[in-house]
Amino acid sequence: MPVTAVVGAQWGDEGKGRVVDVMASQAHMVIRFQGGDNAGHTVVNNHGKFALHLFPCGIFFPHVHNVLGTGMAVNPRSFLTEMKVLNDAGVETAPNRVHISERAQVVMPYHVLIDGLEEEARGGNAQGTTKRGIGPCYTDKAARVGLRMGDLTDAGHLGAYLRQVLDVKNRLLTRVYDHEPLSYDDLFEQLLDWGRQLAPYIKNTHPLVQQALREDRTILLEGQLGALRDIDWGIYPYVTSSSPITGGSATGAGVPPHRISNIIGVVKAYTTAVGEGPVPTELTDPMGETLREVGEEYGATTGRPRRCGWFDAVAVRYAAELCGFSSIAVTKIDVLDQLPTIKVCVAYDVDGERYETVPDTRVMARARPIYEELPGWQEPTTSARTWHDLPPNAQAYLARISELAGGVNICMVGVGPHRKDTLFLDQQHSEVA
Ligand code: GDP
Ligand code: IMO
Ligand code: MG
Repeated sequence: MPVTAVVGAQWGDEGKGRVVDVMASQAHMVIRFQGGDNAGHTVVNNHGKFALHLFPCGIFFPHVHNVLGTGMAVNPRSFLTEMKVLNDAGVETAPNRVHISERAQVVMPYHVLIDGLEEEARGGNAQGTTKRGIGPCYTDKAARVGLRMGDLTDAGHLGAYLRQVLDVKNRLLTRVYDHEPLSYDDLFEQLLDWGRQLAPYIKNTHPLVQQALREDRTILLEGQLGALRDIDWGIYPYVTSSSPITGGSATGAGVPPHRISNIIGVVKAYTTAVGEGPVPTELTDPMGETLREVGEEYGATTGRPRRCGWFDAVAVRYAAELCGFSSIAVTKIDVLDQLPTIKVCVAYDVDGERYETVPDTRVMARARPIYEELPGWQEPTTSARTWHDLPPNAQAYLARISELAGGVNICMVGVGPHRKDTLFLDQQHSEVA
């Protein structure tokens, strides 16, 4: 499978990190194609437990090239912090296998500040962003006034750039938000220092990616967040500012769409979301609390409790349609182990009308889930290693998810957070599913 996109099928945090970590053993290159350190991709393997924010999840295999792609928004401070965490754990991050696209956007200190100030100003209408500066950074990108990673290594360009933009940013900070201005000299020094430290990593990644494509190498495109937070197709405005769906992977990684021959949708066995916006199956009762506690559903980046609910097949089918999943990887089936019955949302009711697909956010906000109930299996699944090790009711649950997602085969099942807690389903088994 030369080029495989691994994308989130729900509201984010589906377990993309663990899926990429598992698959990276066979890969030549992993490219993160959008987003920034709003991501928290948890990987649990022989090196320990990590929440990766910027580094692609191929970093744990020394033979893998890890590319921070052009579609990303990179906060240099976070990159350096994360590199230290990895190095301290004995994970090597040499610049001959970690490549930051010189075309990726820089998340500037004022982006982070403005994200927080904007959220505060929205009051009761806050969007629940991660406050990592992602929205303001992509705003500058779209307005064509952003700074790119390559610019950090060019003092002349940097100085001219700052002289042009900082005055405007400071007027925004002081006049709109009543905040202290940022000092030109301090910011210039800070950026130069980051540029010096990151210079070995910042490259034109295009030739590297094209060479890997020419040689038919195995490449993974690692998505951030999920389809329901896509800037165009998600629950706007409660979305991120980039495109986490498969289409975004081609643009952000610089890979022609027709070269993506395999698309894996990562699907959690139930629903979670952090941040605001409609989540029709959200449970605010003790069952929601049970899912949160058993699933340890707290944000990997902000630590916020995740909103939890039953599996939403309408949302996953919508994601499958938008992304064109070749197969799905279903994670966290073990979290449902103890439940006597499990609900699955098969359609929405909006003011008495049945919806089989995700409507626009205004309408989605009024969607009530229509459930079907399946029997639980009430036995542990974490030691399962093949399809046949799973209890029949767990098999039936997975089969139903696969059917409701539009008849997409299941390629992988997560029965625990560790790399080893993974079932790989071959064609025969996925046909069963
Ligand atoms: P990502 O952002 O899509 O990579 O997902 P996160 O890392 O934010 O959230 C997924 C959480 O579920 C992490 O804490 C993972 O360690 C955990 N996880 C992933 N797969 C499984 C699984 O199959 N079972 C259990 N119990 N936990 C899992
Ligand atoms: P991973 O990659 C879950 C959510 C925020 C908010 C919205 C916009 O780990 O799945 P932003 O900071 O991007 O402007 O916030 O998106 N959000 C995430 N939710 N997992 C993430 O990343 C997220 N990144 C952003 O909570 O609702
Ligand atoms: Mg996450």
